[in-house]
Amino acid sequence: MRVLVTGGAGFIGSAVVRYLVREGHDVLTFDKLTYAGTLTSLAPVADSPCHRFVKADICDAAAVRQALEAFAPELVMHLAAESHVDRSIDGPGDFISTNVVGTYTMLQEALRYWRALPAPAQAAFRFHHISTDEVFGSLGAEGLFREDTPYQPNSPYSASKASSDHLVRAWFHTYGLPTVMSNCSNNYGPYHFPEKLIPLVTLNALEGAELPVYGTGENVRDWLFVEDHAEALVLIATQGTPGESYNVGGASERRNIDVVRTICAILDEMVPDAAIGPRESLIRFVTDRPGHDARYAIDFTKLNRELGWSPRETFETGLAKTIRWYLDNGAWWEPLRQRYKGQRLGLETPATGDKAPAGASAKRLGLAS
Ligand code: NAD
Ligand code: DAU
Repeated sequence: MRVLVTGGAGFIGSAVVRYLVREGHDVLTFDKLTYAGTLTSLAPVADSPCHRFVKADICDAAAVRQALEAFAPELVMHLAAESHVDRSIDGPGDFISTNVVGTYTMLQEALRYWRALPAPAQAAFRFHHISTDEVFGSLGAEGLFREDTPYQPNSPYSASKASSDHLVRAWFHTYGLPTVMSNCSNNYGPYHFPEKLIPLVTLNALEGAELPVYGTGENVRDWLFVEDHAEALVLIATQGTPGESYNVGGASERRNIDVVRTICAILDEMVPDAAIGPRESLIRFVTDRPGHDARYAIDFTKLNRELGWSPRETFETGLAKTIRWYLDNGAWWEPLRQRYKGQRLGLETPATGDKAPAGASAKRLGLAS
């Protein structure tokens, strides 16, 4: 199958691309290579005749059109996004541009491409939009997010993803574009950019630096190993029902503080360092994230019942594999630690100079005085 993957140089996208190529599919990665994207995540497929790469922006309609027409995909897997909640607090503009306007551009160009296909190809084509459980908001101590849980996004990131989900739904209902959607919990694993909790804490602890835990550390996330997610995504894209959405989760709820302590314990065992001592002593409770969602937990019964998916890794096996991978792959993360040195993000109010979203300035919308 020919698959166009947007965001394929990112964390989850590159896992999807590596998986698709391993399974014998032809893949075109379409990625802007922002701070979060790197071709080194695609090194395992760099020499494969089944993989091609184009550096371009999903907000650039002409570039999207050209890629669709030249590559003629049977499936589009749309993962390109700004993905980091803390950065969305500091600078929401890029999130509106890429996640909202970019998804709109992808939908419009996919629709134009799909309408020109012959009937059998039209029937087989799918546009898979990859989204997050954060669109559902925050849970208390009980309950799970289901596919029909009302949307209540709380951060600029989750609000931008919720907007994109609604656009996808509308393009299915209004224009008949055969879309499928999935909403997943927190991923972790190899090739994770070291701004997110697990890789940041792993690398800080390895180096003997402080481990920032927001608030009291009692917020809960449901963790899924990225390669399990990649497998679920390909299943949903190829066997999901058009117009439907599927929740994906890891059945591994953990408090942040317990995640951080577990990383410390694994590193103490794998690479004991007398100069650092027990790494738990590096933990620092720091100012909480504004609007910090308390708990995410996923009910993925639908995906299990309809498509037979469940995660292969437990949190313990997946985390040990992940930490081993970081220990063995300094060549991948060292340049990224130069790009982002681990300074605290997400405490600022939006910078006054924050860029307005492409094509949607207040003036052009007639909102400016
Ligand atoms: P990431 O930040 O690691 O990667 C995003 C990729 O998109 C990068 O390669 C970047 O260069 C590319 N990109 C960004 N803006 C672009 C643009 N305008 N045009 C083209 N490419 C662009 O993100 P990730 O963690 O791999 O997340 C991938 C998708 O999965 C996102 O849509 C995210 O919302 C969703 N998701 C992530 C998680 C998670 O835990 N990381 C969980 C559920 C859903
Ligand atoms: O739930 C899915 C989402 O998971 C995805 O949609 C997002 O793209 C992805 O980034 C992730 O969002 P989170 O905000 O949950 O991930 P993050 O790694 O930033 O934070 C995980 C938890 O750890 C969260 O409760 C905040 C906390 N945290 C984070 C950092 C970076 C800390 O305590 N200290 C930190 O330094």
